[in-house]
Amino acid sequence: MGNFTTVNNDGAHNLWEQLYFKGIPHPEGMVGVVLGIESTAHTLSFGMVDMNGKTSPSYSNLFRPEEGGIHPREAADHHCLMASDLLRKATSSEMFLDNKIEAIAFSQGPGLGPCLRIGASIARTLSEVWKVPLIGVNHCIAHIEIGKNQTGCKDPVLLYVSGGNTQVIASSRNKYRVMGETLDIGIGNMLDKFARTQGIPFPGGPEIEILAKKYELNKDINENFINLPYGVQGMDMGFSGMLTAAERRIDAGDSLESVCWSLQEHAFASCIEVAERAMAHTGKNELLLGGGVACNTRIREMAKIMCEERGATAYWPEKQFCIDNGTMIAELGRLLHNVGYNTKLSDSAINPMLRTDHTEIIWD
Ligand code: ATP
Ligand code: FE2
Repeated sequence: MGNFTTVNNDGAHNLWEQLYFKGIPHPEGMVGVVLGIESTAHTLSFGMVDMNGKTSPSYSNLFRPEEGGIHPREAADHHCLMASDLLRKATSSEMFLDNKIEAIAFSQGPGLGPCLRIGASIARTLSEVWKVPLIGVNHCIAHIEIGKNQTGCKDPVLLYVSGGNTQVIASSRNKYRVMGETLDIGIGNMLDKFARTQGIPFPGGPEIEILAKKYELNKDINENFINLPYGVQGMDMGFSGMLTAAERRIDAGDSLESVCWSLQEHAFASCIEVAERAMAHTGKNELLLGGGVACNTRIREMAKIMCEERGATAYWPEKQFCIDNGTMIAELGRLLHNVGYNTKLSDSAINPMLRTDHTEIIWD
């Protein structure tokens, strides 16, 4: 169990009781805002975007299991407990109080069922109480749209590198098409798993980055770096082979710093190679990084070098908008609201298996 008090199976009822669901009256004529709710996995988060596209920071809390991986039910219990406090913070913020609530957006999928259900329940409640439209959004596409909002890029190839997903995406004929993706585990998941074997708690990616940097700074230029299986297979990627090999190198006595460095170099180079090929095939000259692993300075550096070499430009949003956040859900909600899209209560069931290429782009 994580570092929070347990709730019983009636957690959802506690949530209803705890929710801050008194509507706040707003004078007419104010700019509207969309409130976004993210709850696909480890993070519960609320964020806002006004109808001009101006973003607020997100109010978030990350579930950190004391040991092992993320248990969906425990993460959902965490979200239940955090909901009213985070919502209260979001609804006490300047952007909420100075504006008029226009719509409630929530992550409808993909993700862990119990976690998605918490966000969906909060969204349905607020939409009913505040009498504003409900908008279910595709979490993967929200990562793309917040990146476009923040960086101003127009038609990028997206390298989506998170815990659960590793995809190279480009829009074509009204859909974001997946041009290549991991055939086994997500790149962040691979980093987190490796970290866990070394006693580093979730999320392991940031700590691996620190260890790799230490190695980079002290590296002997003549030293042979550690070879791991490379992760590219055609336009797809794979990370479980390099994970197993990295664990073996630790068992064989290599230093943790050197293995972290090699793991990053192999994993990131695999992604950048596929992204470059996607840019060549599509003729697009913008690369956008998104997802939690896009916080990493080394993958950003590789993206920049690759793009500069081909006369293209690499973009990434600031860290708070790379990791899962409610603001990105609000941003996709805003784009959908602008074209009059909303989700009927009867269509608001969660969809844990939703994919990037299931959703039609109706807002561009
Ligand atoms: P999705 O549902 O989109 O797959 P997610 O649930 O994995 O998303 P994110 O917040 O997008 O959530 O990504 C979390 C991942 O990002 C974790 O695996 C974490 O280790 C990784 N990460 C965060 N910061 C860094 C970093 N600096 N370097 C490498 N990985 C990082
Ligand atoms: Fe995500």
